[in-house]
Amino acid sequence: MSGSYEALYQAWVADMEAFWGERVPMLDWSRAPSRMLDADKPPFYRWFPDGELNTCHNCLDRHVEAGHADRPALIYDSPVTGTQQTFTFAELLDCAARAAGAFRDLGVDRGDRVLIYMPMIPEAVIAMLACARIGAIHSVVFGGFAAPELASRIDDATPKLVVAGSCGIEPNRVVAYKPMLDQALELADHAPAHCLIKQREASPASMIDGRDLDWDRALAAADRAECVTVSAVDPLYILYTSGTTGDPKGIVRDQGGHAVALANSMAMTYGLRPGEVFWAASDVGWVVGHSYIVYAPLLHGCATILYEGKPVGTPDAGAFWRVISQHNVSVLFTAPTAFRAIRRADPEAKLLQAYDLDSFRALFLAGERADPDTVRWAEKVLGVPVFDHWWQTETGWSITGYFAGTQGFSVRPGSAGKPAPGYALEVLDDDGQAVPAGEIGALAARLPMPPGFSPTLWGNQERFRKVYLDAFPGYYSTADAGMIDEDGYVWVMARTDDIINCAGHRLSTGAMEEVLTQHADVAECAVVGVHDRLKGQVPIGLLVLNAGVTRESEAIAAETVQMVRDAIGAVASFRTAAVVQQLPKTRSGKILRNVIAAIADGRTPKVPPTIEDPSVLDGIKSALGAVGFPHE
Ligand code: COA
Ligand code: AMP
Repeated sequence: MSGSYEALYQAWVADMEAFWGERVPMLDWSRAPSRMLDADKPPFYRWFPDGELNTCHNCLDRHVEAGHADRPALIYDSPVTGTQQTFTFAELLDCAARAAGAFRDLGVDRGDRVLIYMPMIPEAVIAMLACARIGAIHSVVFGGFAAPELASRIDDATPKLVVAGSCGIEPNRVVAYKPMLDQALELADHAPAHCLIKQREASPASMIDGRDLDWDRALAAADRAECVTVSAVDPLYILYTSGTTGDPKGIVRDQGGHAVALANSMAMTYGLRPGEVFWAASDVGWVVGHSYIVYAPLLHGCATILYEGKPVGTPDAGAFWRVISQHNVSVLFTAPTAFRAIRRADPEAKLLQAYDLDSFRALFLAGERADPDTVRWAEKVLGVPVFDHWWQTETGWSITGYFAGTQGFSVRPGSAGKPAPGYALEVLDDDGQAVPAGEIGALAARLPMPPGFSPTLWGNQERFRKVYLDAFPGYYSTADAGMIDEDGYVWVMARTDDIINCAGHRLSTGAMEEVLTQHADVAECAVVGVHDRLKGQVPIGLLVLNAGVTRESEAIAAETVQMVRDAIGAVASFRTAAVVQQLPKTRSGKILRNVIAAIADGRTPKVPPTIEDPSVLDGIKSALGAVGFPHE
């Protein structure tokens, strides 16, 4: 792919079905689609409705059959255990086929759900591919979530099988996953038939007879399962993401559209050639990990890195440079927070001098807005282009970008680039009218959405319609606010709902409020995202206590911090709560969360004239001041 971005985008504008139809041959199909888009039931659309294929075949078997059996497919690099292991395409195929056989032996069939709760170990990738192989639907849950979050996903997905690691390894501690799973299964109404446990030396798990089975033993005893043919519109996976309430949203990804979109993106967006090494430094529990640690690189015949470590502390801020250099990485994809962490530890990137980064061509950032300062620093120290691109779990691949595989356009730090072919983006006002270039509004994409976009929420089409399609008829409402400038660059500035992005992780402040209100002494609360130099945003909570409570405020605040950790997980990064007399509200009773966030950030709040009692703000300022906000 070497034409201009403009020509490519215009080709999509001219005929979107022809555009995607030309990309169908990037994959092997058992039955190639005769129809590209099913637009019979707007606002719901399906891509490649009569196509049939197998995603695992396209990730593994296809490359082996094409003579690339001995090429590296998966490179596991784990500084936390001191392990490195490379799987060729043939080896990864063997593992996936055996795991698929083991799942089958446990009664897992096409359409059954398998929940995967694993750290960044090869078995996580193998389990995902094994599900794809037999047409089972995987649902990966990030290890940083606590038992109640896991339980709610188990009840929603009703898996026949749970696959888990005995523990995860964080730099400062070993996190025992299995007790968390046991607790979740006690909380959940649904009971899976079996749990398949990968025992890890750092903390082997105790097993429950009859229910729990050992991963290694089950695979050793299993026959290899072959790929089954599935419909392009069958689900490949469910990935839960934060919504505006505590109920997680099960984003469904279908088989055919996902495979076409991801295969296409490897060359178009990232400029990769088959055989090269791609590294998404994320986690398989997030969409970036699904798409760019597992599926996209393998679909494209690239090697992918599975890194079980952090940007800093495993052992130092040179870890990313070591991995790039040691494994000849061409392209790295990570969240800006990782680069802020590296920069904080090694501002002049002195550790970089020890490594040869000759293979390295480009850095891609997403998950939160890449602040211009971080982009410029990364460009300076690495000497390669740094591209921000905008993403959502719902879309599965980037909505905007700089398109390294085209003769692109120059980077504007702070902008996430221009729309990917597939997305007709507009900025709308509250009435759904397009606003002029350069003005901020709601970012929305005209329907139909491209292949790869989630067709529904698991078991809840109505919620899907309500959350995404009702706000602006004919559009997908992204829930992000931003602008498109005169030259077509997209600037994504903030969420329009209560979602925050903390260290590249998507969190719901509404879900945290639901936890805080369960505290016996708390009458009312507000959780807001405040600026954090490392993580972008962190949540803080303000608590109004019930009348007559005489216990120490600090003790109550500390209890609420622990409650969020127990109910949602360490990943929530909820470390600060403060007691206030009253929350600032409008006369109609709406809590002014933006005003609280502005005060905590040290910005001048935009106080609406409808505020019920402006004097409440003094109490908020002093309570925030007492817990260290705003930071100097
Ligand atoms: N399993 C269990 N616990 C986990 C976990 C996992 N997979 N991932 C994180 N946690 C825990 C952490 O140990 C930490 O616990 P603590 O409160 O006891 O210290 C807590 O969750 C918060 O984690 P995090 O927000 O990641 O903060 P951190 O200080 O541990 O690390 C960074 C900060 C910036 C180094 C880290 O977030 C990072 O590497 N980010 C890279 C970007 C990324 O992965 N983005 C994902 C989407 S692209
Ligand atoms: P997730 O679904 O976890 O990928 O989070 C999606 C959200 O992260 C988006 O709705 C944005 O708010 C934010 N986000 C992701 N990438 C970017 C980016 N490049 N610039 C600004 N915000 C981003």
